[in-house]
Amino acid sequence: MIERHSQTDWNEAQPTRRALLRAAAGVAAGTVAGAGHAAVASAPIPLGSAAEIGAFRADSRYRAALKRHCDVVVPMNDLKWEALRQDRSRFDFSGADEIVAFAEANRKALRGHALLWGEALPAWAKAMTTRAEAERELIRHIEVVVDRYKGRIATWDVVNEAIRWEPSPRQPYRDTIWQRLLGPEHVEIAFRTAARVDPKARLVLNDYHFEEPVADAAARRRIALDICRRLKDKGIPVHGIGMQAHLYAEKGIDVDGVQRFMRELDDLNLDVEITELDVIDWKMPADSGKRDAAAAALVSTFLEAVVAVKRPKAIVTWGLTDRYSWIHETFPRRDSARARPLPLDADYRAKPMLAVLERYRAGLS
Ligand code: G3I
Repeated sequence: MIERHSQTDWNEAQPTRRALLRAAAGVAAGTVAGAGHAAVASAPIPLGSAAEIGAFRADSRYRAALKRHCDVVVPMNDLKWEALRQDRSRFDFSGADEIVAFAEANRKALRGHALLWGEALPAWAKAMTTRAEAERELIRHIEVVVDRYKGRIATWDVVNEAIRWEPSPRQPYRDTIWQRLLGPEHVEIAFRTAARVDPKARLVLNDYHFEEPVADAAARRRIALDICRRLKDKGIPVHGIGMQAHLYAEKGIDVDGVQRFMRELDDLNLDVEITELDVIDWKMPADSGKRDAAAAALVSTFLEAVVAVKRPKAIVTWGLTDRYSWIHETFPRRDSARARPLPLDADYRAKPMLAVLERYRAGLS
């Protein structure tokens, strides 16, 4: 079994004028339910995508698609330690600055990904040996990075994929350098530091495998809530949970479980964001029409489950076009057909998934 690789201001990120006009048309045409409900259902949800720097620099259609389809942009890899800190003594912000400048020039909101992760670390960080060293480096990293983009990156994935694959209350955390050297406090230090440096930023706990109808997804949802509850109990700011939502076409969605999760987030006064949406179709038939229809239906089922209880702050896909996706290498199909995980095909043509996402962007769903 292929090891599962780890796997702006929002309120400012007004949906595009086109989306609002569509919403207005929807309401005028009565396609949005009754007046009371319309107030909730018509709230457009900003759409976004991760931007991979290689494609961003090389492919003008990639940049054009980000401009056209996104209200939100997140650097896919350029705010990770591996990109910023190859050299321990200096920060290389070149990639991140390029994507941030593009987003600001095109009035897109920005997400930052990710201030603390156990992966995509430079060798020197993986080689740290003491608690004092890990705490010093983590705090310094977050101070420098969050301060640089203060007031520009509206939302941070402060901690990414900290939850163990099959967690228990006794062992909630993955075995990372941070957990080994700092213990559970690694999460608190990251959130406390980010909040201190940019008190206006929205701070998110981001993780995956929350969506499927299996016991360990339910356990991970419980642990994610526990982590946020503990932060809140200690007065450490946390604003929401990021559901990465790398959806497996063959596994389906735990609708009841996801809706219970949304209610529990409400009880904790926490937001939800969909942060890395794509569809892993390696077990689906080769026929691209069938795969695209199945992927759109799965995304629709998932988003309907979430939105029926709670409107996400944003819906962000992990790329826009099948031309570029981590899924090709991580989940290769036996028939060697290319994966079709995203809203646009490899030639930037809209697939059924895009229409599903655009309805949320226009506030029609
Ligand atoms: O750009 C360099 C290229 O110049 C070089 O020749 C090549 C070979 O070394 O590497 C390229 O960088 C790669 C980068 O992706 C760009 O494609 C890195 O090695 C590779 O590690 C990196 O992988 C990324 C991965 O996270 C690890 O950081 C994927 O693009 C990215 O999609 C993936 O995203 C993660 C999220 O951050 C967290 N959730 C899961 C998600 C999927 O794994």
